[in-house]
Amino acid sequence: MYIYKAAVVGGGNMGGSIAQVITYSGLPVVIKDIKQEFVDSALDKVRSIYQSRVDKGKMSPGEIEPKIALASGTMSYDDFSDVDIVIEAVTEDIKIKKQVFKELDEICPESTILASNTSALSISELASVTKRPEKVVGMHFFNPAHVMKLVEVIPGVQTSDETVMDVMAFSESLRKMAVRVEECPGFLVNRLLMPYLNEAVLALQEAAATASEMDKAMVEFGMPMGPFTLMDMLGLDVCYKVSLIMQDAYGPRMASAYLSEKLYKMGRLGQKSGEGFYDEDGSEKKLSQIVQELQQEKSFSKTEFSPERLLYLMVNEAVLVLQEKITSVADIDIAMMAGTGFPQEIGGPLKYADEIGLDVILDGLNKLTSEFGFRFHPAYMLKKMVAGGLTGKKAGRGFYTH
Ligand SMILES: NC(=O)c1ccc[n+]([C@@H]2O[C@H](COP(=O)([O-])OP(=O)(O)OC[C@H]3O[C@@H](n4cnc5c(N)ncnc54)[C@H](O)[C@@H]3O)[C@@H](O)[C@H]2O)c1
Repeated sequence: MYIYKAAVVGGGNMGGSIAQVITYSGLPVVIKDIKQEFVDSALDKVRSIYQSRVDKGKMSPGEIEPKIALASGTMSYDDFSDVDIVIEAVTEDIKIKKQVFKELDEICPESTILASNTSALSISELASVTKRPEKVVGMHFFNPAHVMKLVEVIPGVQTSDETVMDVMAFSESLRKMAVRVEECPGFLVNRLLMPYLNEAVLALQEAAATASEMDKAMVEFGMPMGPFTLMDMLGLDVCYKVSLIMQDAYGPRMASAYLSEKLYKMGRLGQKSGEGFYDEDGSEKKLSQIVQELQQEKSFSKTEFSPERLLYLMVNEAVLVLQEKITSVADIDIAMMAGTGFPQEIGGPLKYADEIGLDVILDGLNKLTSEFGFRFHPAYMLKKMVAGGLTGKKAGRGFYTH
């Protein structure tokens, strides 16, 4: 299917930059929001992304104007009669999204693909309110959408392969790296990232190390930034809410750290509120006070930190994802490099496991299980591979053939 015109519903943080990405590929895009000020700010966002390209000498002022002119704004569905794809990027609320999908289903031509940029809600549930569930799909961009290369394409239970292929091809025409991910809570990247972030918070509340010590350790490993800097950037409210969704979906092994709730309730939301894990001046004075109080209040016992505590949990989740046939080995590694900045030199969590040795990872997970409990319980597939001698690079075969 050719896509000649696109629409974005919801011109917030994500919608504005998704619209810019679409215009950059040369396609017209209409942005719809509920208030004129939001429509205007989305159009301003498109312009400002282009302007920053001009400022960096990447485009000329003459080049950007025709691109900017491809974006238009509206508060009605009048311009939706000839759109080939709609990307919904409204507030993360199932009721609002379902209403939007109902409206889109009534307004758009039968052939229009309805995609959602949801981070955590069910694509199948959104599809269920339409008469075209085969044309409803997840198209999950990462923040900021005009910078991040990855798009997860998520079919719901009734989505057709044709729709998935069309959206993969469309994503690639937007110069994105598209990865097909079967539907599961957190999809792929957030499902692997959240346990890693949550473990860092657990280690912090158990006074295993300070936030900056752990950030430094993970940067030394090769991550572009440490877990606490990342959470301050993403927003502690967003992280806390996603952690509850993960806890609800996967049960106690993903139980959200108490400190996340505490900081969220204190209004320490990260960069957006000035303070999060780090204080406004970048120090950890208030944080260490909060951790100390928490230690007394909850009598958390002191534990040890190691980068493996975070990384092995991520590897184990990657193996569970493989076991569930959510996606492939190569796509897990590509997505984690493109979506989280997992170090390219290492090559993704499964390449990392092959390098370290699957037997070493299994042994490490068993030790972590006896120390911290069942959240480290090794995936069955990992045990099977080790038992069968597929221990990674040293054996010539692991997740990859070496
Ligand atoms: N922010 C991120 O880091 C991020 C990353 C990936 C995906 N997402 C997902 O993208 C979506 C949007 O997130 P955001 O951060 O841009 O939110 P946002 O709050 O910045 O923007 C949401 C926009 O939707 C508009 N809106 C609400 N109801 C609407 C309706 N009925 N019709 C049209 N517009 C409506 C709001 O006015 C607002 O402008 C969410 O599903 C979110 O989970 C967010």
